[in-house]
Amino acid sequence: MTPASPVIRKAVFPVGGMGTRFLPATLAIPKEMLPVVDKPLIQYAVEEAYAAGIREMIFVTGRHKRAIEDHFDTAFELESALGAANKHELLAAIQAIKPDDMVCVYVRQPRPLGLGHAVLCAESLVGDEPFAVLLADDLMLGKPPIMRQMVAAFEDVRASVLAVQDVPLADTKRYGIVDTGGVGGAPGGLVAIKGLVEKPEPAVAPSTLGVAGRYVLTPGIFQQLRQQGRGAGGEIQLTDAIAALMGQESVYAHRYQGVRYDCGTQAGFLEATVQVALARADVQQDFKHYLKTLSLD
Ligand code: UTP
Repeated sequence: MTPASPVIRKAVFPVGGMGTRFLPATLAIPKEMLPVVDKPLIQYAVEEAYAAGIREMIFVTGRHKRAIEDHFDTAFELESALGAANKHELLAAIQAIKPDDMVCVYVRQPRPLGLGHAVLCAESLVGDEPFAVLLADDLMLGKPPIMRQMVAAFEDVRASVLAVQDVPLADTKRYGIVDTGGVGGAPGGLVAIKGLVEKPEPAVAPSTLGVAGRYVLTPGIFQQLRQQGRGAGGEIQLTDAIAALMGQESVYAHRYQGVRYDCGTQAGFLEATVQVALARADVQQDFKHYLKTLSLD
């Protein structure tokens, strides 16, 4: 078990979005509860935060998101049924979803006014300390886990750190792109950021380093979010607030080591499902066997 981090104690999970790209699945089920193999996306993200030593999980929820609270609650009737049926392995797996030293708290985002607004909804729960933000629809796998890499990076610089990855030039318009003043930085390394542009066309992109859904932020971000007007799409954008924060404090990009699956899109979700299934000792054999029967052209 990873010891609790004394530096980053709290993680915010903004799960208040509407998940329109995954309709009709998200009509009654939160996007973050969609399972990759048999584990919901939100559980992967919570496990990643826990592995980074974070023990207080703050969920910014919205309407139709109650399933997330139920998932991290104690299912006492199920647990006693599994115990009575001697299904001890399954029982242990269910009980491990919320370890005893993990605290889950919930706050509502009254309207889906954007990711920045969702983070601002957590302000009174976070208080005056640095904190992590994890977007569960980015399934991120790495060794050590990506958030652990981020916390280590924060400990180095004691300033806000954004997870970035190198993206194909043609894809810059799908990401927040950081301006590092031409410094690429090594994988696993940290680079100071000079600017941040939301979804630039390739011709004007300041780099090919795209922001992924993992952040460690200083509490200074809240003041920027409070001052932030509505940006692109009429939403309060976290990217705009981070860009404004750069006027006050240093902000760094961390080129994380690992892979990211954009599970907010159908193709990314399918890729994650295939890769996680192939890595799972209990399902890989049958699944590989099935894949080998496919003739793809
Ligand atoms: P996305 O834009 O990917 O999520 O936001 P979405 O709005 O749910 O999805 P689509 O575009 O309609 O399909 C990234 C993250 O920010 C959260 C989402 O839940 C997701 O984890 N979010 C977004 C909020 O918590 N509140 C918001 O108002 C918007």
